[in-house]
Amino acid sequence: MVKVAIDGAVQEAQPDELLIDLIERTGHTISHVCYHPQLGPVQTCDTCMVEENGRLIRACSTRVADGMAISTKSAKASAAQVEAFDRILSNHLLYCTVCDNNNGNCTVHNTTKLLAIEHQRIPFRSKPYEVDNTNPFYRYDPDQCILCGRCVEACQNVEVNETLSINWEDPNPRVLWDGGSTIGESSCVSCGHCVTVCPCNALMEKTMLGHAGFLTSLRKSALSGMIDVVKGVEPETGYGTILQVSEAESAMRSHRVRKTKTVCTYCGVGCSFDVWTKDRHILKVAPEHGPANGISTCVKGKFGWGHINSEDRLATPLIREGDKFRKASWDETFTLVARRLSEIKAIKGPDSTAFISSSKCTNEESYLMQKLARAVIGTNNVDNCSRYCQSPATMGLFRTVGYGGDSGSISDVQKADLVLIIGSNTAESHPVIATRVKSSHKLDGQKLIVSDLREHEMARRADLFLHPNPGTDLFWLSAISRYLLDNSLADTNFLDQWANGLEEYRKSLEPFTMEGASRTSGVPEETLKTVAQMISKAERMCILWAMGVTQHTQGSDTSTAISNLLLITGNYMRPGTGAYPLRGHNNVQGASDHGAMPNMLPGYQSVDDPDVRQRFETGWKVKLPSAKGLDNHEMVEAIHKGKLKAMYLIGEEMSIVDSNANYVGDAFAKLDFFVVQDIFFSNTCRYADVVLPGAPSLEKEGTFTSTERRIQRLYQVLEPLEGSQPDWKITQEIANRLGAGWHYQHPSEIMDEIASLTPMFAGVNYERLAGYKSLQWPVAADGTDEPLLYTKRFAFPDGKARLFPVSWIGPTDQPNSEFDLHLNNGRLLEHFHEGNLTYRTEGIRQKTPDTFVEVSPELAEERGIQSGTWVQLISRYGQVRVRALVTDRVQGRELYMPMNSLESPVNRLTSSHTDPVTNTPAYKETSVHLNVLPEVGESPLPRSNSRFGHPTPQNGVEVERKWKRPDYTPPGNGLVQLQTKK
Ligand code: SF4
Ligand code: SF4
Ligand code: SF4
Ligand code: FES
Repeated sequence: MVKVAIDGAVQEAQPDELLIDLIERTGHTISHVCYHPQLGPVQTCDTCMVEENGRLIRACSTRVADGMAISTKSAKASAAQVEAFDRILSNHLLYCTVCDNNNGNCTVHNTTKLLAIEHQRIPFRSKPYEVDNTNPFYRYDPDQCILCGRCVEACQNVEVNETLSINWEDPNPRVLWDGGSTIGESSCVSCGHCVTVCPCNALMEKTMLGHAGFLTSLRKSALSGMIDVVKGVEPETGYGTILQVSEAESAMRSHRVRKTKTVCTYCGVGCSFDVWTKDRHILKVAPEHGPANGISTCVKGKFGWGHINSEDRLATPLIREGDKFRKASWDETFTLVARRLSEIKAIKGPDSTAFISSSKCTNEESYLMQKLARAVIGTNNVDNCSRYCQSPATMGLFRTVGYGGDSGSISDVQKADLVLIIGSNTAESHPVIATRVKSSHKLDGQKLIVSDLREHEMARRADLFLHPNPGTDLFWLSAISRYLLDNSLADTNFLDQWANGLEEYRKSLEPFTMEGASRTSGVPEETLKTVAQMISKAERMCILWAMGVTQHTQGSDTSTAISNLLLITGNYMRPGTGAYPLRGHNNVQGASDHGAMPNMLPGYQSVDDPDVRQRFETGWKVKLPSAKGLDNHEMVEAIHKGKLKAMYLIGEEMSIVDSNANYVGDAFAKLDFFVVQDIFFSNTCRYADVVLPGAPSLEKEGTFTSTERRIQRLYQVLEPLEGSQPDWKITQEIANRLGAGWHYQHPSEIMDEIASLTPMFAGVNYERLAGYKSLQWPVAADGTDEPLLYTKRFAFPDGKARLFPVSWIGPTDQPNSEFDLHLNNGRLLEHFHEGNLTYRTEGIRQKTPDTFVEVSPELAEERGIQSGTWVQLISRYGQVRVRALVTDRVQGRELYMPMNSLESPVNRLTSSHTDPVTNTPAYKETSVHLNVLPEVGESPLPRSNSRFGHPTPQNGVEVERKWKRPDYTPPGNGLVQLQTKK
């Protein structure tokens, strides 16, 4: 610790602490406009000047030193702060009372007050630019822009989309998108970072405009008149009086604007934020304190909430009558569901019914779903959609290290000095995790290797990009492991101490030569050796993988090979290392954790373990089935075979997202009784006998568990839409109509029950998760959690990891002369999965109206295809009609289709082949025949899509260029210390 005197009081500080943080931490106040703790020093505003030893320095960019004596209020410092802020006001009209940003948190307003500015010495100067309204989600008003550069810093170095810059050399600097494009035609991905950090109203969410204030919905002409009035009285009254009026208006707003914490409903990153609402209108999403995301979001979490107030929301239960559905009361519907489930159980036995929980629902809801299956119906036939993506990764980790979850946190991925990404389009599927990798790669020298079929954004950024033949990852990964062992590049100390099974594993690697790997994968031997060398030199490596690995017939084995590689290189047990199978849905981790699996009770406790069963039997006061149930792939087969008669499915668009969708739809049509619970009338609802209107995440309480095993609370933002109910209440009522006698009043009571029965969650309760607090499982009874797993031992009885031999089989459904093209598929940034939620947000639809198939330039030329050409894709299982997008993201005879379509879902083409270990479909092993159709339409991606933009990478805001302007002088003329961020 060092000692620093602030205004005469000696304070203790960390040696590398920023002076501004120390000043604020110790209760002193100082003006600052451009500084934001999550951006670091930006140094553009100069309002944080303090005096040290007679000279002026910026508090935001100065690191403390022992013995420093700082004055924040000396005459010199105060004069410099006011002078700096006066310059800011020359770029900004203070019309707070009629401004949508007058919500008590406007930095410009608050700094005017803090510095007691009464009059503006430098007059306001309008900038010669129009307001830019071309993005559907936010707008930029150059006249209000104070050129603080926070937005640029956020875009360049936090989001690392590198769209924004400021033309410091211009007579009238402003923020630029792609160096001078409109926002709408730029590379902006609408992540919202810039809008979130803007300290004033220059960048604002369109959902705020005209809605946040009492007077802000006035017509523009009336508004301009009022702004003139405000400006007119300023010379006489000073800003003090004007601010008092605006503060009164702001206080009135606080009575009608609610700010409620929630967790994102889309991907597994687990972003959390406050949602600002006025009645049912969503004013904005404000990320700030999220333990996983801080200020970060992607377009979906920031702006993709159109589904909440969509006219398509289900608002009454529906009962099938012939080919039609009729509206019904809850009571009638519950009675029908209970009667039919009882009848089918009585006639065909408990195992004739199956349950599918939703990875969009809360942990508590999945827990109730599996409890209904097991304790009320008496079957283990319960599953969730992790079967479609994550089960193989979980299996790979179960086999080798013991826990089926990410071995560390997102912050560990940030700390690694080598990140290896395999089969994950991280920038689109887990955008906020991608920002952390992009930032560490750009700013901190982190190395990045990407292996994928497509040259997506992460591949383009990588130091090394591998393009192996489809489905060959297991081979080249195992060959690298063998090479490292053969060449004494493995971490033998780690292996001696922490791993079992080395000799058997070494033997199993015999077939995996570098030469064979190169032949099989198509990656040159030299490149594979370079990868091996990079891995061996890395002090800390993390491997990230996703559906490009897991959705293969050898998904479990390839995941195992990844974990084996981490073990032989000692890349577990330390910060900055480990295995990161990136979870897709927001709560796909939690759905499995909480027992929506046919073989596991909550907390991965096996159904065939009598001790485990007994604990649950005592807790639930019932006898439980001991035989493993059907997983969702087996359920489809069982329906076709006539063994499964009834199903209750929550929030899964299974007839679109399951592989071989036509086959799945045919199965559903055969069910005797099918209950579907959703917020929209999904495609799957078409097969239902009863449709129950559930509630989206914003309309209920509960918890989600993100990819880093982080359990977070979501609070109810809005009342459930009239006619719908939170899903846990619906499931409870069905159970009670079947005689269960459950009495949960609130999801916290469900969590208390989970904690009492599940050692992994022993210390989880709502108090420990209040607000933005979170826990990363396992959680001991005293509340201690484990952000980094395996710091003391692996999760096996002897504490040692297990090297698990795997062998090579190779992919199925290979191209042949008839089906001559390989079809890959995956998510798109703007849409989540099939798009049932995201198509309800108008702006997302504008940017990405439809699905498409990506065709390589070579293939396009060979077949006479251009972007917009309609093509028919025919596989061994079905066909779709879709427009082509010609792009060099794909190569040769490999195609790629995003999943976001209800009309032409890619799963009409995929097969029923699965990974035999987990029954996860081999979605990524599909061969197709392509017919070029005569019609040529518009490009499936409009020009306003960010993929057509031209980013302008630079080193943050580049304030040094501002300082070089001839008209720039540091305020107070006494500035001597300029310090960069590092
Ligand atoms: S990508 Fe767009 S929304 Fe995101 S920070 Fe950059 S300019 Fe802002
Ligand atoms: S638009 Fe950017 S530079 Fe302008 S005030 Fe907002 S954050 Fe600062
Ligand atoms: S979709 Fe994922 S990355 Fe985007 S805001 Fe939601 S949790 Fe974050
Ligand atoms: S806070 Fe803006 S220069 Fe320090």
